[in-house]
Amino acid sequence: MPGPMRSIRRRLIAGSLLIVGLPLLVFVLVASSVLWRFYRQQLGADVTAQARLMADLVAPALAAGSPPPDAARTYGPEYVAGHWQRRSASRVTIADARGIVRASSVGEGVGAPIDDARRPGMRDALSGRGNATAWRSPNFAYEDTLYANAPAWHEGRITGVVRVAQTLTAIQQRVARLRSTLLLVVALYAAVIVALTLVFARTIVRPVERLQADAHRIASGDLSHRVAVGGPAEISELAATLNRMTSRLELLEGLRRRYVSDVSHELRTPLTAIRSMAETILQYGDGDPGLRERYLPRILTQTDRLARMVTQLLDLAHIESGNYVPSLAPLALGELLDEVALTHAARAAELGVAVETSVSDPRLAVRGDRDRLVQVFMNLVDNALRYTPRGGSVRLDAVAARGRVEVTVADTGRGVPAEHLPHLFERFYRVETARSPQAGGTGLGLAIVRQIVEAHGGHIRVDSAPGGGTTFTIELPGAEPAPLAPPEPRPASEEGAP
Ligand SMILES: Nc1ncnc2c1ncn2[C@@H]1O[C@H](COP(=O)(O)OP(=O)(O)OP(=O)(O)O)[C@@H](O)[C@H]1O
Ligand SMILES: [Mg+2]
Repeated sequence: MPGPMRSIRRRLIAGSLLIVGLPLLVFVLVASSVLWRFYRQQLGADVTAQARLMADLVAPALAAGSPPPDAARTYGPEYVAGHWQRRSASRVTIADARGIVRASSVGEGVGAPIDDARRPGMRDALSGRGNATAWRSPNFAYEDTLYANAPAWHEGRITGVVRVAQTLTAIQQRVARLRSTLLLVVALYAAVIVALTLVFARTIVRPVERLQADAHRIASGDLSHRVAVGGPAEISELAATLNRMTSRLELLEGLRRRYVSDVSHELRTPLTAIRSMAETILQYGDGDPGLRERYLPRILTQTDRLARMVTQLLDLAHIESGNYVPSLAPLALGELLDEVALTHAARAAELGVAVETSVSDPRLAVRGDRDRLVQVFMNLVDNALRYTPRGGSVRLDAVAARGRVEVTVADTGRGVPAEHLPHLFERFYRVETARSPQAGGTGLGLAIVRQIVEAHGGHIRVDSAPGGGTTFTIELPGAEPAPLAPPEPRPASEEGAP
C-alpha cells in the first residue's frame, strides 16, 4: 500500500483520538485529583474533630493532674488514647499543660517531654493554636500522614493537648485504584475509536486507492482507460474530472497524430515532385537541354511552395502556442482596408475582378495588432480573387455593431458547397481534393485567419451558396473612434485682424 494512503488513515486516527480521547484523559486526571483533594479535606476535618472531641473529654482529667481523682479516671488520657486506638485507624498522643506526654496509643515517649521533631505542632496547640498538617512522618515509616493538634480547655485554661494522626495511604490507594479503572475504560474506548475510525477510513481510502491505480494506468499511457466514478462526493467529482481530462488528452493526442500525418503528407508531394524532376535532369539533362529549361522553374515553384508552407506552419504554431498575445492598438479600419485593396489592385486588374472597400464611418476603428489584421484581410482577399471569375467583384465592408465592428469580405465567385463549409477553417482543408500545385494553396490560410481573429477576442464565420459567391464575416472588438483630423490652426496674425 502506498505511503500517502497510510497517511490518510493515520491522520483520521490521530484526529479522532485527539478529539475524543484527549478530553477523556484530561477528565480522568482532573477528576482523580479533585477526588483526592476532597478526601484529604474530609480526613483533615475528621481528624481535627476527633482531636477536639478527645480534648474535651480529657481536659478535666488533665486539670486534676497525676494521679487523677477517681471521678476523672474513666476519661483519663491512657483510657481515651487506648480506647480510641482500638476503635479507629487513628493514633492518639496526649500531653499535659507542662508538655509531658501522658498517653500514647502506641506507647511511645510516655512520661517524657514532647519531642518536637516527631510530634510537631503539639507545643503550638499548648499555647492555644490548634492546627492540622500533613507530612511524611518518621513515626509512620514516612508515609503521608495527617495530624491534628487540639488544645484541651478546662475552666478557661489550657490543661493539655491531644494529637490525632492518620496516614493518607488508604485514601491514596483508593484514588489510585479509581484512576486506573477510569484509565482502563478510556484505553478501551480509544481502542474502539481506532477500530471504528479504521472502518470509516476504508470508505475514504479505498476509493482513493482505486483512483490512484487508475491515474497510474492513465499516466503510463493508457489514455482510453476511464475511472469508475463513485465513493464520497469529492472523490467521485475528482474521478469525473480525471475522466474529462483523459478524454481531452485523448482528443489532443488524436489531433497531434493527425497533424503530424497531415504535415508529412503535405510535405511529401512537393518533395517527391522535386526529387523526380531533379533525377530526370541528372539522367537526361545532357542529351536534352530543353529538359532543364522546363524542369528547373518547376523545381523553384515547388521549393517556394514548401518554404511558404513551412512559414505558415511556424506562424500557426506560434499563434496557437499561447505565446502570441496581440499587441492591441486602435486602428482606423478605412485606412487598413484600403491598404489591403491597394496591394491586390494590380493582380485584381489582371484577373478582371473589381475590389471595392467601404466603411460606415470614416472614423471606424478596431483594437488590434496591425500586421496580423492586415494578414487576415490579405488572406481573405487572396482567396476571393482566386475563386472569382473574370467580371466579378470583391467587396470589403465595415460597420459598427454594438460596440464591436463587423467586417465582411464578399465575393461573387463560385462559392463553397455546404458540406465543406464547417471544415473550411481546418488546417490543410481544401475544397479541391487534388493536391496539385495548380489546385491552389496549402489550405493553411483560413486556419491562420481564424487563430488571429480569435486571439483578438473576435469571431469569424462564412456563408456561401454554390454559384452565389462567398462571404466571410469577421467580428472584432471596437475601439474609440479616432478623432477626425483637427482643423488647421489659423495663424496668430489673422486672429487679431479686425
Ligand atoms: N472565397 C472563396 N471562394 C470559394 N472557395 C474558397 C474561398 N475561400 C476559401 N475557399 C476554399 O477554402 C479552402 C481553404 O482556404 P485556405 O485559405 O485555408 O487555403 P488555400 O487558399 O487553399 O491555401 P493558402 O491560403 O494556405 O495558400 C480553399 O482551398 C478553397 O477551396
Ligand atoms: Mg488562402
